[in-house]
Amino acid sequence: MAPETTLASSGLSVCHHPMLPRPFRVVRHRRELRDTFTLILEPQDGPPEFPFLPGQFNMLYHPGAGEVPISISGDPGRPRHLVHTIRAVGNVTRLLQRYQAGDVLGVRGPFGAPWPVAEAVDRDVLIVVGGLGLAPLRPVIYHVLRHRQDYGNVEIIYGARSPRDLLFRRELEQWRGRFDLRVHVTVDSAGPEWRGGVGVVTNLIGRARFDPPQTTALVCGPGVMMRFSVQELRRLGVQPRDIYVSMERNMQCGIGLCGHCQLGPFFVCKDGPVFSFDRISPWFELREV
Ligand SMILES: Cc1cc2nc3c(=O)[nH]c(=O)nc-3n(C[C@H](O)[C@H](O)[C@H](O)COP(=O)(O)OP(=O)(O)OC[C@H]3O[C@@H](n4cnc5c(N)ncnc54)[C@H](O)[C@@H]3O)c2cc1C
Ligand code: FES
Repeated sequence: MAPETTLASSGLSVCHHPMLPRPFRVVRHRRELRDTFTLILEPQDGPPEFPFLPGQFNMLYHPGAGEVPISISGDPGRPRHLVHTIRAVGNVTRLLQRYQAGDVLGVRGPFGAPWPVAEAVDRDVLIVVGGLGLAPLRPVIYHVLRHRQDYGNVEIIYGARSPRDLLFRRELEQWRGRFDLRVHVTVDSAGPEWRGGVGVVTNLIGRARFDPPQTTALVCGPGVMMRFSVQELRRLGVQPRDIYVSMERNMQCGIGLCGHCQLGPFFVCKDGPVFSFDRISPWFELREV
């Protein structure tokens, strides 16, 4: 169903000022889970490609309702299509869920500091994700697989609430079939038909193959999952400067002007959302106000 107000009908002009959204057309709407969907977009104006770094996000705009920060979940090596995976939780995200092929929405970005794919070269890479956290880390996985010879052991540990909540299931199965990557999947609870693991992701960290002083760990998911994962990684000897987490805060401008996303001395939109744990640790457990 087409949204009642579209960007085309809102009269927005073509401009690449970071505060003005560019119109993007939906090429495809893919349902992922009951409440989660992926929009594949292409620009309606300006350069046909949308280069970004793994971990960056865009502000997605529905005229009349507002903007939301959403990570880019696509392949940085294929910048012709911009990909966002979104959970419909509230006002704007539920409106975005109604967008179908041909509809036009507004995009500002890309914004934010990326995951450290360059710093991780020649090191083991351990990716620990929970739930929708797989979406902002999928660009890292694409990047690492495209440059596989540049990295040591690569391990992905992914946890979801139940088998029905596994995101990107087909790709998880493909990645699991590779010899140069290990994928561990666990769920909080499952019926007898589930043949995978049951339990929290932290239980699996110790089973992954990595050399702690030579490991870069990337952690993304619900707050409690990130907290326990960081604890376990530190217990196993991964250095705080080599553990990276992604922080979420309310955002408005996305470019370090409005102060909405302030966390201690940082603006999450500009200095983050990806931070090394040694930089963010004093503010890591602060709840959003
Ligand atoms: C850097 C960054 C990257 C993000 N990337 C993604 C992404 O890739 N995909 C995605 O789906 N979301 C992502 N988010 C979260 C997304 O921005 C929010 O879910 C969105 O702003 C909610 O807006 P809304 O208008 O739909 O909901 P609102 O109407 O603002 O909120 C409605 C309800 O949803 C709850 N809510 C708000 N935010 C969240 C949240 N983050 N998680 C759970 N419940 C929430 C509110 O507490 C409220 O109860 C990201 C956030 C940040 C800061
Ligand atoms: S969202 Fe405005 S300063 Fe970060």
